[in-house]
Amino acid sequence: MASSQSVVKLVLDDTNCVEVNLHGATLTSWVAEGADMIFVSEKAVYDNKKAIRGGVPVIFPQFGAWELGPQHGFARISQWKVQQDPIKHDNGSVSAVFRLCDNEDTRKMWNHKFQVDYRIILWKNKLQFSLQVDNKGDQPFTFTTLLHTYFRLPDVSKTTISGLSNLEYIDKVANGERKTEQSGLLTVNCFTDRVYLKASLPHDITNVGGNQKTVHVTKDNFPDTVVWNPWADKAAGMSDFGNDEYHNMVCVEAGYVSESASLPVGQSFHASQVLEVL
Ligand code: BG6
Repeated sequence: MASSQSVVKLVLDDTNCVEVNLHGATLTSWVAEGADMIFVSEKAVYDNKKAIRGGVPVIFPQFGAWELGPQHGFARISQWKVQQDPIKHDNGSVSAVFRLCDNEDTRKMWNHKFQVDYRIILWKNKLQFSLQVDNKGDQPFTFTTLLHTYFRLPDVSKTTISGLSNLEYIDKVANGERKTEQSGLLTVNCFTDRVYLKASLPHDITNVGGNQKTVHVTKDNFPDTVVWNPWADKAAGMSDFGNDEYHNMVCVEAGYVSESASLPVGQSFHASQVLEVL
């Protein structure tokens, strides 16, 4: 990792801690019960320009291709500030807050005044991400947003994802065709890029991390769930992702993406995700 990288650590105890890189406020490690639950590619680039390949990049104000700026927006390639240093609370948690505001660069792409506060709260075996977007300008704006969580897996073929059964999804590998999920528990076994709509049930992701735990995902005001794995051919075309690493990850992403969120002047948007090791 380059020495110019700023990393903030939230430490609860010897076996529960988190690292957040201020480039993109990308959470790059979540150790629970001594095992990291989060995948970061061995080929990830830490140049403060490219998005970090792995972890939990924050996607804002655009999910996917964007006519005004880079794919997945600018938040994941912006330098965030620490708004609140990690503090321990009496309830047995540690929290920190990261902030991104509009600046000359963001306004060139997207001419709106905004503030994003991103609070990360670590408990024993549990991690909460809370996003607050404030409209600080004099015009309403719309945006899409998502937490692009890369889970670390010993073997993707042994992982199942619950909470998707019977949901309608946009299949991005089939020209955006709308389909209905037939499987009760999803196992990813090919190039997969899907936006599941109205995904309101929790997701249990099995066989996560070196200790092969189940991670229980709940979310609030993130109506969509994106599931992504590039598989072999796409992986081979990515310079910041190892050829074989697709075996060892799956992205299950809590998002507000299939429709845009509208934010009137002076108002706030809130959304959150909780990951819990069962
Ligand atoms: C997913 C998208 O969220 O992110 C995919 O649904 C995309 O379409 C993937 O390929 C990775 O995007 P990027 O820009 O980090 O390579």
